[in-house]
Amino acid sequence: MRNPLPFLIVLLVEHSIHRVVSLCALYYPQFDASIQNRTSINKSDFHDANVLTVNLSYNLISNLSSDTFSSVMFVKSLDLSHNWITELSGNLLSSFTRLECLQISNNRLNQLPESFLENQVFLKQLDLSHNNLVSIPDNFFNGNLYLLRVVDLSFNNLVTYQRWPLLLWNSVDFDLSYNKISTTASYLGKRIFTNPYGSEITVNLQFNNFSQWDDSFYEDLFGEDEIIADKHISLTPDLRNNNWTCDCNFYNIASVLHNSFYQSPKADTLKAKCYNPPHLRDKRVLYDVALNEFVCNLTSDQNCLIQDNPYMNLVYVDCRSRGLTTMPRSLPLPNGRKLSLNFYGNSIRSLDNVEYADKIDSLNLSNNALQYIDGNALRRMNNVIKELDLRKNSLKYLPKEINVLPFEKTHVEDNPLSCDCNMTWMADWVNLALGYRDKSVQCTEVNGDRHLIKELTERLLNCTNDILIAVSVSLGVLLVIIIIVVITAKRCPYETKVILFKIFRIHPRDKYVVDSNDHDMDNDAYISYDINDIHVQQWTKEVLVRKLEGNKPSFKLFVPERNLGSGSEADLRAEAMEKSKRIIIILSAHYSKNQWCQFECNVAESMSENQGRVLYILYDNMSVKLSKKEPWQSRMNDRRILSPDERLFWSKLRYELPLKSK
Ligand SMILES: *[C@@H]1O[C@H](CO)[C@@H](O)[C@H](O)[C@H]1NC(C)=O
Ligand SMILES: *[C@@H]1O[C@H](CO)[C@@H](O)[C@H](O)[C@H]1NC(C)=O
Ligand SMILES: *[C@@H]1O[C@H](CO)[C@@H](O)[C@H](O)[C@H]1NC(C)=O
Ligand SMILES: *[C@@H]1O[C@H](CO)[C@@H](O)[C@H](O)[C@H]1NC(C)=O
Ligand SMILES: *[C@@H]1O[C@H](CO)[C@@H](O)[C@H](O)[C@H]1NC(C)=O
Ligand SMILES: *[C@@H]1O[C@H](CO)[C@@H](O)[C@H](O)[C@H]1NC(C)=O
Ligand SMILES: *[C@@H]1O[C@H](CO)[C@@H](O)[C@H](O)[C@H]1NC(C)=O
Ligand SMILES: *[C@@H]1O[C@H](CO)[C@@H](O)[C@H](O)[C@H]1NC(C)=O
Ligand SMILES: *[C@@H]1O[C@H](CO)[C@@H](O)[C@H](O)[C@H]1NC(C)=O
Repeated sequence: MRNPLPFLIVLLVEHSIHRVVSLCALYYPQFDASIQNRTSINKSDFHDANVLTVNLSYNLISNLSSDTFSSVMFVKSLDLSHNWITELSGNLLSSFTRLECLQISNNRLNQLPESFLENQVFLKQLDLSHNNLVSIPDNFFNGNLYLLRVVDLSFNNLVTYQRWPLLLWNSVDFDLSYNKISTTASYLGKRIFTNPYGSEITVNLQFNNFSQWDDSFYEDLFGEDEIIADKHISLTPDLRNNNWTCDCNFYNIASVLHNSFYQSPKADTLKAKCYNPPHLRDKRVLYDVALNEFVCNLTSDQNCLIQDNPYMNLVYVDCRSRGLTTMPRSLPLPNGRKLSLNFYGNSIRSLDNVEYADKIDSLNLSNNALQYIDGNALRRMNNVIKELDLRKNSLKYLPKEINVLPFEKTHVEDNPLSCDCNMTWMADWVNLALGYRDKSVQCTEVNGDRHLIKELTERLLNCTNDILIAVSVSLGVLLVIIIIVVITAKRCPYETKVILFKIFRIHPRDKYVVDSNDHDMDNDAYISYDINDIHVQQWTKEVLVRKLEGNKPSFKLFVPERNLGSGSEADLRAEAMEKSKRIIIILSAHYSKNQWCQFECNVAESMSENQGRVLYILYDNMSVKLSKKEPWQSRMNDRRILSPDERLFWSKLRYELPLKSK
């Protein structure tokens, strides 16, 4: 559908529809043979060659030979209505030179000859109503019908509407009511429309078999076409009294028309009403139905209600209490739509990495039997999902990947969560959520103690002690560790160095030039991060800075947000960076959009002795993607890159920072 607006405006300025009643008049002399039970008529029946009206209506004529009217050339009005004619000869009218009015209604015609109206340049009115016509030949309405103004094709069996009215030369009144039209076609489209400036075309399509709207109707019915719009034709199809189904197929046209039409209460013919679905019955399609209500039921899976809503750009899947034990493997998804899924009250045991995971806008799995969550599914939901409801399930553990969804988008209450040493990361996850969120979610220890998850620490659960005891108690264990260290040292030399450093504080590192110089470097590290990203900002403040400054050995960090003094901001930042032994760049999705970050990154790149001095933290999935593209790829070449999700993250970070004498 090309932009229909210019055309519609034209449409709106017009409009009170005046239908022409009849243009036929009675002309004398007349040959009247109506109501005579005649079964045939032939050429020799006409005695006066000058008759202007021939009336053969109400007879029993079924066949007319092609030369029947060859002796009466001046007829203006021919009435053949109410006979039994099944077929017309192509040149039946060929002798007429002034025919204005032709009535063949109430016969048994089921087809028309293509060239029947050829040369009828004076024809004003054509009545073919009450026949059995199923189609009209392509060239029936030819380019010579200069005066044709009234066409009655009502009460036939036509199934397709074509742009016939647009082929004529005048304002025209086309009656197509009481047919079986359910669709439109435009294969006449190649012919040039002849209707001129100011033409008013009324097309009565009432009482047909239309039900499903298709956007392609628009052009066929309204004649939307640049040339036509230029010519100011106003074409108003009357689509009332059809059993329209008000579903998603109406959305496009309704959304375009909604605003413009309220201002034009006159466009009566556009007040078509809905028939289906029942709850919208008798509402006017383009006036009373909210855009949100144009929905389609898509094929149902396991009796779920699956509804396409183009206005919300969502497919709603309502599978509440359907006895499901798994999530559906696949779901119908029209172009570009997201899914809003409600699986409340089933017996689903796991949140799987389903095909549509990256298309989920919201997922409600509350009141199920969840025990397992696939971390990969969570990864794929990241950035798209707005709400995940996991309440009232049987979850003991959450995978660490749930970190990719902020806690405020996630509901995990009413699960038997376990306060295990490997779950202490959840405290950060909960604490990083925005303030309005209720953070009172709890977990249970093996001994039955309950804790607020936001308060979990390894000390609270006595985790660290266990490890220390285990390490120191047994030399044998140490030996094993050494053997493992030797083996892994070969495989993962970097990790080994980090572990050696962590446990024995041996730092077998390659010295960086920057550390060997005796510059007066005040700061151990300068943190460059995107302050506009609330999560990065919180993480930096609450996690990174706390850990590095709070725990021994503690580092002196320069955090611009906190430490920047007054003066030229650019100079202060550059100076602080010069005085920092390390520059930690926390790369996040919008890092490069922040101008200070760009600035800092450029300074870092251009500093002398920056070998080992600049290191990167990939904060989120986006930054992992960024790091594989330019310019980041070449910037990160030869640099140490860490990510909070990886093992030994904190140990690696400390290992990279300048050595501290405790
Ligand atoms: C036509 O036929 C009907 C019934 O056969 C008869 O009643 C009527 O009189 C006839 N009309 C003429 C004009 O013959
Ligand atoms: C024409 O009709 C007349 C009577 O109405 C009949 O005598 C004549 O044979 C018919 N001619 C033809 C060619 O059918
Ligand atoms: C033909 O005759 C019928 C019946 O007498 C009449 O109703 C009709 O109006 C006439 N048609 C014309 C065009 O005069
Ligand atoms: C109609 O008449 C023509 C001759 O005038 C004849 O050839 C044709 O078979 C007739 N058709 C019917 C259906 O009677
Ligand atoms: C609409 O549907 C009703 C009931 O099925 C039927 O009676 C009526 O004829 C239909 N109207 C049209 C215009 O198809
Ligand atoms: C009307 O349209 C429906 C489909 O919308 C079709 O099933 C039915 O056969 C049509 N009726 C007629 C009389 O063409
Ligand atoms: C979709 O299905 C629901 C439930 O079966 C029904 O209530 C509703 O009317 C249907 N909507 C449409 C547009 O068919
Ligand atoms: C999940 O669905 C249940 C049942 O429809 C509803 O009560 C609950 O509020 C929904 N969860 C969310 C987050 O909307
Ligand atoms: C935590 O440890 C338990 C066993 O104690 C295990 O079942 C669970 O999968 C672990 N969770 C994570 C996130 O590693």
